[in-house]
Amino acid sequence: MSKMMRIDKLISNMGYGSRKEVKSLIKQGEVSVNDILIDNSSVKISPISDIVKIAGEIVEYKEHIYIMMNKPKGYISATEDNMHKTVLDILDEKYLIYRPYPAGRLDIDTTGLLIITNDGDLTHNIISPKKEIVKRYEAYIQGRVGESEIEAFKNGIYLDKEDYHTLPAKLEIIQRGEISKVIVSIKEGKYHQVKRMFESVGMRVIDLKRLSIGWLDLDEDLAEGDYRELEESEINKLIQIK
Ligand code: URA
Repeated sequence: MSKMMRIDKLISNMGYGSRKEVKSLIKQGEVSVNDILIDNSSVKISPISDIVKIAGEIVEYKEHIYIMMNKPKGYISATEDNMHKTVLDILDEKYLIYRPYPAGRLDIDTTGLLIITNDGDLTHNIISPKKEIVKRYEAYIQGRVGESEIEAFKNGIYLDKEDYHTLPAKLEIIQRGEISKVIVSIKEGKYHQVKRMFESVGMRVIDLKRLSIGWLDLDEDLAEGDYRELEESEINKLIQIK
């Protein structure tokens, strides 16, 4: 059986006003449950099986929200910040009632796949180093990346500030030149990890974009700053992470 919930809380959580405003709607006889008008705000209902209507319109209930964003530069992966715009500033207000937050961080100047959700279990799956979820990044590197860097990444890189040796990482060279284009696959998400791994081998990342998290790829149709809700099959790809 699904979790029971107070009717005024459910309606308020779905963005129809404060608890006080919702109580007043109920008093005015605007709210029905399974087509029976109610006058008591403390009635408990099942958000899954009961049908709630306000003035005859069905209130759609969703507990969780899952958004895929192609994060643009200049925004930080946080829910609030005194200095910078956050990725939540990009979202339409209708999503904010779910109190979403970014599942993991991308640096202010990193672009690409960011999941924004209010599902704590899913967030844990994505960010926990124990899960060893592969995150793939496209990076432009100042200088010629070669076999020695591939080997160094394969062996894991020592990050001295944290006295931490990273898990083996995969480095694929797409284009070698004064500026090289590479794909890096890592299984953790330490602060500035990709940039610091390159720093450790004497190189600098000049541009970084996340392409995928586990089996989930960034939708190529999303321009930087665009976002959309995840489809059921995509949510499953993230939930399947054990
Ligand atoms: N590694 C970095 O250095 N920065 C990011 O934003 C993500 C991974």
